[in-house]
Order: sequence, then structure tokens, then C-alpha cells
Amino acid sequence: MPKITIDGKTAEVAKGTTVLQAAQALGIVIPRYCYHPSLSISGNCRMCLVEVEKSPKLLTACSTEAADGMVVRTDSDKVKAARRDVLEYLLINHPLDCPICDQAGECGLQDYYMEHSRAKSRFPQEDKVRRQKRRALGPHLVLDNERCILCTRCVRFCSEVTKTSELEVMERGDHSYIDLKQGKALDNGYTLNLADICPVGAWTSRDFRFKQRVWFLKRTPTVCLGCATGCLMEAHHNDGVLYRLVPRPNAETNTWLCDHGRMTYKAVRAGDRLAKGVIKNGLIELEPALREAAGRIDENHPAAAVLGSPWLSVEDNAALARLAKDAIKTENFCFDFPGAQGVKDGILINEDPAPNARGARLVKDAYGGIALEELRARIVDGRVKTVVTEARAAAFVRDAVKASGARLIVFATNRADIPPAAYATLPYACYFEVPGTFVNFQGLRRRAEPSVAAPEGVRPLWALVNRLAAYSGASLHLDSAADALKEIVFK
Ligand code: SF4
Ligand code: SF4
Ligand code: FES
Repeated sequence: MPKITIDGKTAEVAKGTTVLQAAQALGIVIPRYCYHPSLSISGNCRMCLVEVEKSPKLLTACSTEAADGMVVRTDSDKVKAARRDVLEYLLINHPLDCPICDQAGECGLQDYYMEHSRAKSRFPQEDKVRRQKRRALGPHLVLDNERCILCTRCVRFCSEVTKTSELEVMERGDHSYIDLKQGKALDNGYTLNLADICPVGAWTSRDFRFKQRVWFLKRTPTVCLGCATGCLMEAHHNDGVLYRLVPRPNAETNTWLCDHGRMTYKAVRAGDRLAKGVIKNGLIELEPALREAAGRIDENHPAAAVLGSPWLSVEDNAALARLAKDAIKTENFCFDFPGAQGVKDGILINEDPAPNARGARLVKDAYGGIALEELRARIVDGRVKTVVTEARAAAFVRDAVKASGARLIVFATNRADIPPAAYATLPYACYFEVPGTFVNFQGLRRRAEPSVAAPEGVRPLWALVNRLAAYSGASLHLDSAADALKEIVFK
């Protein structure tokens, strides 16, 4: 293994490690624009120049392999002067957009200028090369060619990650610009990653633009519930409002996020968000709605059933299992959701659009229950007359409910999710508002953490289950989400 010395610190690194990676392992940060750990090396920006003993010229750290006995300096006067020159060159034609640029606060040009340059421009503003600004490309992005530093990260992302190759560098020299290839559209399902990886404000998100200055944002680590892949991500929010979701890169599951997953936060403050109960299309306060739902369950006792949901957390599914066993005292309950799981596009998007079929199976392991087919059969032949479930999971028994006219009581966050056959709907707090445990398709336990408060009066689903049980004269002794997990064994 080659032994390399950088700024006086020595490390043994695996063959093939670059100087930039070796420095990183030693805790030395070398500035970079075009280098991205998940893309091929391009070596075009020259920001990572370092001095290597016995080399007559400075070398790019991102594309130079560490060799045995190599001695590198990242902080010499020569390196510092080169960084200043590279920045001056990159900024020559850059517009003075910082006050109105969405990237301000997390811009590679701003940060490195402050750290490595602070030089005044020697180039008259009127001589700058002008390029196209504010061009909507695809459903999610805006491209500002004037801000682009031609690092080609976006071009490489589209050719190496999505393999759709929509982008290209056009023209030569200071006429170069990024553009769509002829006949292509920028709609590959992962386009918002370009706004993340662009080191400047050339690609910005149409959804996030001008909504919030990034230095006001608070960051909460959480998990995407857009499908069974369960990508790790960060929710960015301020004053109780969610503004965007960005990836939390990790070795097990994801470096990126898909566009669908990024937009899952929209439902939280959507116009159809439920804050009250719904009985047969009419809005009523929560307590009367709970009382009515409990009354309908009692009325059909013991012909009531509980169907868990792969869209709910393990805690909320476990609370539903307790409702079936300890309050309704029925064997008509199901936490078994068949269906294909696995990445379907070779990148991230899963065959299974629900995030927690594997977590629901842990509830089945702890509490038992019947198969989905059996539940459907019991609904059709009239042994089950009322079904309690989550709104999207109601689709699993839609035809059976339609055929038998069984009563449907659902938990929902948004009006759009309520199935037409629902008799009663109870609003619950979503997993941007309350914590929840999920198990992704790989069997990895993932935690959704709350970043914003639920609308006034809206409570976690397990708490609603507690109230339903109380109305039926039973106590489930659930004082927290964690209480519901007591019987669950995580593998
Ligand atoms: S648009 Fe951004 S990511 Fe693409 S080449 Fe320009 S600076 Fe790099
Ligand atoms: S692949 Fe699935 S889990 Fe990952 S971001 Fe997209 S919807 Fe979310
Ligand atoms: S990061 Fe090394 S040349 Fe761009």
C-alpha cells in the first residue's frame, strides 16, 4: 500500500486512492468544484491544485493517484497563489447575482472566494460574457447559464447515474455553455439532484427558488416514505414550514433522491390536509368523529376487522394490532402485505410504492392475524361488516368492501386519500410531524423524525387508536409511540 505524506501527515492508503481522497482521510480539505465522490473524475476546474515534491508543475489532487513516498503540500504559497488565480479566472464572467441567487449561503464560489481569494476583479463588468439566464428546463429546474462554471457535474450525472445523457457542453472556450441535446427533455425522475450537485447557482429548484434563504433553514435527519427503498434524507424547515428535502448520502441505500420522493413533503401543508374528522363527506370535530367511529365498530362487534397499512409506522401498526386484539377482541386482523420489493430502475425507485411492508410484517410476527385473501373472503361473505384501516391501505380490500357493502373507517392525512366508500375518516399526524419506525426493503430499520408541528388538534395515529379503544370501554395503556413497540422484535 502506498505511503503518502500530505502537509507533514503520513498515511498508508489503498492502491488507486487519489491525493484528494488521501488528504480527506487525513482530515485535510482540498477545495474542489468538478470532483464529486459519486461521479467519474473530470479534472477540469483546477481548484484542487497541489504541490507534489519532484513535480515541476502543480497537479490536480482529484485526478492524481497517491504513490509510495509521495510528499504533497496543500498550503504552500505556490498552491495558494494558484487557487487565487483559478478563482479569478472562474469569476471573470460570473454575474454579480449573489443578492438574488438562491445558492447564496451554500455556494462554492462564495465560500472559496472568502477562504482563498478576496481579490478584487481586474475585469470590467461591461466586458463580461453574457449567457442565457432563467431558463426552465424540465418540470423541476431552472438553468442560469451565466452562473455556470462548466464543472460538468450535471453532464456526468445524466450520463453516469440516470444514463439518459440529456446534457452536453456546447461550443468552445468562453462561448461554452450547458444545454439539452437536441430532441431530449430533462425529465429523468432524478433531476433535482442537479440542483444539489451544481456547486454554484446555475441549476436551481423551481419548487424551492426564492422561498427561503438557506441560512434560516433548520435541518432534521429523517427518511423518505415515498417507496420501500427508504432513502435517508434531511428535511429543511423554518418556523414550522417545510421547504425542501435533500439526500443524506449513506453507503447502504442512497446518495441521491428521486424527484417523487423530494415532493412528498408537499402533502403536509396541502389545501386538502385534514384537521377534522369526516363522516360521510361532512367535516366534524375529532371527538364526535371518534365517538361515531367507535360506535360503528361496537355495533358490529365481533364482526369488525382491522387492516394494518404498509404506509404506517411500526408503532401505528402495532397500536392497530392492539386495537384488534385487546379492544375489539377479534381475530379479524391482517398485517400481511404481499407485493414485489426491489429497486425497479437500477437507481433507487422501488417496485413497492409503500414504505413499510416489512415493518408491518414484524407486527404480524408479534401479533399473528390472518392473510389478506382470508380477510377479503370474510368481508365478502359477511363475517366482517366493518373494516378499520389507513386510507391508502383500503385499496387492498376495495373490491370486497364494494361487493359486500361493509362499513369502512379510515385514518387519513389528506382528503385526496379518502376512498369513496369510507363511512368515517379520522385525521392523523404525518411522519414529518411525529416520529415513526420503518423497515425498508433491505430490512434496515429507519427512523422518521418530526420536523414541524401537526395542524392544531391533529394527533398521532396511535393516540387516536387509544381513544377508539377507550370509547369501546377498553384501555390499551399506550402513553407514547414507544409503548406500542413493546411486543415488536426487530431482526
Ligand atoms: S450547470 Fe452547474 S453542475 Fe452543470 S456544469 Fe455548470 S456549474 Fe457544473
Ligand atoms: S427512491 Fe423511494 S425512498 Fe428514495 S427518494 Fe425516491 S421515493 Fe423516496
Ligand atoms: S476538483 Fe480537481 S480539477 Fe476540479
